[in-house]
Amino acid sequence: MITVCRIEELPPGESLRITDGVPAPIAVFNADGTIYAVDDTCTHQDASLADGWLEGCFVECPLHTALFDLRTGMPTCAPAKTPVRTHQVSVENGHILLHISVGEPA
Ligand code: FES
Repeated sequence: MITVCRIEELPPGESLRITDGVPAPIAVFNADGTIYAVDDTCTHQDASLADGWLEGCFVECPLHTALFDLRTGMPTCAPAKTPVRTHQVSVENGHILLHISVGEPA
């Protein structure tokens, strides 16, 4: 389990890219008060989803505008065809926690 940040450091509509302590970068989003975490790298090419545009519980890739559902990781339009992995998150004692083990394969 990894402490991402304090909840007030990720206000609604914002995202963070986590690289420390994880096997591959993970993007964490605050979508209107609900926290989601998915693999940061788009499954189409090498773009950071944390740099994308958040629309409700969807993120639009900044490179070719594929749209991913943060609840499932599924792409909802081309050019991405493969889902991104989702990761469990929780908020405890004012901190966002990412439930991923350090040894988990990328
Ligand atoms: S890199 Fe994300 S849609 Fe192409």
